[in-house]
Amino acid sequence: MASLPPYFCNMDKKELYAHRTIAEIVTEDISKAGIFKKYGLDFCCGGGRSIEEACMKKGIDMEALIRDLESEKSRSGGRPVRFKSWPVHLLVDYILEVHHNYVRENLPILKQFSAKVAKVHGHADPELIQIQQRVEEMATDLEMHMRKEEEILFPMIKKLSEQREVDAETLHLILHGPVPVMEAEHERVGDIIKEIRDLSHQFTPPGHACNTYKALYFKLEEFEDDLFQHIHLENNILFEKLREMAA
Ligand SMILES: [Fe+2]
Ligand SMILES: [Fe+2]
Repeated sequence: MASLPPYFCNMDKKELYAHRTIAEIVTEDISKAGIFKKYGLDFCCGGGRSIEEACMKKGIDMEALIRDLESEKSRSGGRPVRFKSWPVHLLVDYILEVHHNYVRENLPILKQFSAKVAKVHGHADPELIQIQQRVEEMATDLEMHMRKEEEILFPMIKKLSEQREVDAETLHLILHGPVPVMEAEHERVGDIIKEIRDLSHQFTPPGHACNTYKALYFKLEEFEDDLFQHIHLENNILFEKLREMAA
């Protein structure tokens, strides 16, 4: 969390966190994402909920969560990257360079590993067949989704950000057309990866797993981490910046 003004110093930590949203906390410091992940709390599509609300809904010990968030702050030490203060064009370039490239490099690996593992071990562990189907579904959805962002939405956003004055008409069009569609698609792909997480017992390979089986689960978890950060940057930072421009 950013350094707090003096009048906050005597406030109870619980009070400081309880009413803040998960998305706000991760927006300030992406290193906190790992803590929310540990507690099974979604920070990208479901990030609009307050800490208190999210803990109540999932039966999570809020004080333990806050303690972990605080200790992550002292553990990570260095200054967090403040994506929120980045200009829109830089954010778009970062998303493309880091996350879209990651997805393009890794989807073929996931498809290959999941097909191989389902073929060899699917008779003993039938969930592997479902995992392979979900991976294929996720790949098709993501390829189409990223194309829409790369060919339509992101060029519109970049063009808008280059203009001296805000083009209210284009901004309105973006916020009421492509943005809600992208958000709905994020939710769908987020649901698929959560389903894969459940099917794979939180990406835990069984004792008899071969190396490809283990590598598949390792890569799936890495892919989930990247996907959640990717969606967080779009939903909670990039689109939020557009909403602020329109306000
Ligand atoms: Fe994207
Ligand atoms: Fe997206």
